Formats: sequence, structure tokens, C-alpha cells
Amino acid sequence: MQYADLLIHSADMMVTMKGHSERPARGEGMSEIGLIYDGAVAIREGKIIAVGTTQEVLAGGWLGPETMQISAQGKVVTPGFIDPHTHALYAGSRENELSLKIKGVSYLEILKQGGGILATVRSTKQATDEEIKAQTGRRLQTMLSLGTTTAEVKSGYGLTLDEEMRALRLIKELDSELVIDLVATFMGAHAVAPGYSEEEFTNYLVDEVLPEIAAHAQAEFCDVFCEPGVFSVSSSERILAKAKQLHFKLKIHADELAAGGGAELAAKLNVISAEHLLQASDEGIAALAKQGVIAVLLPATSFNLAKNTYARAREMIRAGVPVALATDSNPGSSPTESMPFVLTLACLYLRLTPEEALTAVTINAAHAISRADQAGSLEVGKQGDVLILDIPNLNYLPYHFGSNPVGTVIKRGRVV
Ligand code: NIG
Ligand code: FE
Repeated sequence: MQYADLLIHSADMMVTMKGHSERPARGEGMSEIGLIYDGAVAIREGKIIAVGTTQEVLAGGWLGPETMQISAQGKVVTPGFIDPHTHALYAGSRENELSLKIKGVSYLEILKQGGGILATVRSTKQATDEEIKAQTGRRLQTMLSLGTTTAEVKSGYGLTLDEEMRALRLIKELDSELVIDLVATFMGAHAVAPGYSEEEFTNYLVDEVLPEIAAHAQAEFCDVFCEPGVFSVSSSERILAKAKQLHFKLKIHADELAAGGGAELAAKLNVISAEHLLQASDEGIAALAKQGVIAVLLPATSFNLAKNTYARAREMIRAGVPVALATDSNPGSSPTESMPFVLTLACLYLRLTPEEALTAVTINAAHAISRADQAGSLEVGKQGDVLILDIPNLNYLPYHFGSNPVGTVIKRGRVV
């Protein structure tokens, strides 16, 4: 008999997210979270070998003399959170922009004055590999302590071939050195580098940078900041079309600050996910639903931009768009690592139910980064990425905000 290495049992509520691994949950499916009362999950060699009620799992005979047991009585157990959209790799910070923002200077004005993303490009360029890794590593450890067991990380504070290659290399190194799993996205099209016109920089990315990144297999996804005043729909399309040719999977920052046809482009290119979508049009939402593009919504960015504009998540869910949630962790528009805070904002301002929000931070988030075969649910064969939350029930998770609800993080069957 192959015994479990770890058995978590007696969870008051256990969210499995069962049944959504083939396709992201949408519509009413987003409320089907596979809830088990008095739940248990058994893990062996990093993978889940049994899931059910405590009685069912115990009857399976998984409990051996060496099995470590954790009682989750009075607590809630969920899959590890997946953060499918971060810009976590950089050096420096931008707290100086807070006072500008309070005075009413807009995000894009700050960027146009050479601040914003370009300020972080400078501070990252000046930092050594070790400094970037130390600062980013601290953020990733904070994410893990807040329940994120897998995160996507974008490059995009380099804006030259060498600096973008360095960023992607550091993401790979951090992935292998830290417990948290990382998925790398190339986002050279994050801002137009100083000294270039938009067209010139687009040419540079398409002709010189993308082929090199692809040749060195440094990133799985390619993303573009498609926004009026940054990369137009046509520049974004050129970059993503080239990326597709080079076998990248595609993502797009669309309609974050202004409605600009980004959602429509996302549907046209059939990207895996479209992100932000604060200003997405009705036609854009319908097109995303038709193509099955996942909407990755970032309410912490809305909160931090302080414009009281949130994505129309209810309309998206009604239209059949699969919705996921992420932090957008970055030094400008969303300086946070907290998926629990994102869950609270999603319930209060995107008007998701706690069940929908949990689907959005687990299995749908896994789909958004092509990891639904390994993570995002508690099902036999998946990685043993499990959270024990110190809360009495599910509703308590978005309800009580500002502190960390995560009691224990288990990554690949190991207590972190
Ligand atoms: O997703 N929109 C572009 N990129 C980030 C912000 C990055 C930054 O301000 O440093 C975002 O909001
Ligand atoms: Fe972003």
C-alpha cells in the first residue's frame, strides 16, 4: 500500500473546484466550486492522491505510520491561489507618485513626463542581478505567505533586448530557487522606450527582440500594453501576430484607461486572456465571450488608480466570459502582493459572489496561464498546492479584509 505523506482532514469547508480542468468555468459554472463539508485531501510525492470527506479518505486506507496529519477543524481548505498577472520583477519603488496622483496628475501623464513605468525601467537597469532578485524574492515570498502558490511574472521594465533577456533569465532563476512556481511572460511592449517613436519601437520589438527571445525560449507568453497613447491596436496586433508565429501564447492589456478596441482585438487574435478591461465595450465583451477569451480582472489596480471605475464583471459573467482575478502586482498602478485583498475588492466592487471570486483566483486563473492541468483545483493527480485558511466559513474570506487569512500554505505536498 502506498500511504499518503500528508493528510489534511476535518476541514469545516473544503473547496475543490472539481470539474473545471478541461475548460474555464463561465456563467453559472463559476458558482460550482465543488464544496465538501468535513473535507480531507491526501498527498503523496507532491501530488494529490485522494479527495473527499474525511470518512471517505480515511476509508481509502491512505493513512500510514509515517503520514503527517493536519486537522483543519474549524477552518476552510482551498486550492492554492494562482495570480495570473503580475509585474513583480523590478528594482525600486514609486511612492513619490502618490502625491502627484492625489493632486490629480493622471497615470499616463506621469508616464509621458518620463516617470511611471520609465522610472522603474531606470531603477531596474541600475540594479545588479542580485539586487533585483533580492527585492523581487521578498515580494514573491510575501505572495506565497498570502496564499499564492503559482504566479505569472512579466518582463517589461527593460525595453531593450539585453535588459528584457536579463529580466526573463532572473524570472527563471527565481522560479527554480523559490517555492512558488512562476510562469514567464515577455512584455517588451510595456512602454515605448525613450528616443523611439511608437512605430520605430514596434519595429524593433517585432524584427529584433521577439525572434531572440523566442530563440532562447525565455518566455511562454507574450503580452502588450494596448492602450491609446501607448501601443495602438494596430501596433499591438503586429507584435502579437509576430509572437504567435514564434509560438508564444498570447495575452493583452486591453481597455485599461480608455476604451480603445482592445477587447475586440483580443477576440480577433483569440488570445488566451485579456487583462484589465475596465473600459471594455459591449461589443468587446460579446466578442470575448464568443471566443472564450478569459478576462483577467485587476480590481486592486482600479482601487489604486482611485477613479472609482471597475470592470463590468457581472456583464461579463452574464455574457459567458470566463473571469479570473489577479493582483497586477507592480510598483505603479498596483503595489500589492495580496490575493486576499483582491478577493475582497472583487466581491465588493466587481460584485462577484465569494464562490465566483474563488473560482476566479484558482481554476480560472490556472487556465489563464495554461496550468489547469497541474494546479487550480484539488483533484487526484494535481499538484498538492493547498491552503488552510484560518476562517470559519467561505463568506468570511472576502468579508474580513486587511489581514492575512492564510494559516498554512502547502506547496507540492510540503508545509511551507
Ligand atoms: O498593468 N498597464 C501597464 N502596466 C502595469 C503598470 C506598470 C507600472 O506602472 O509600473 C499595469 O497597470
Ligand atoms: Fe499589468
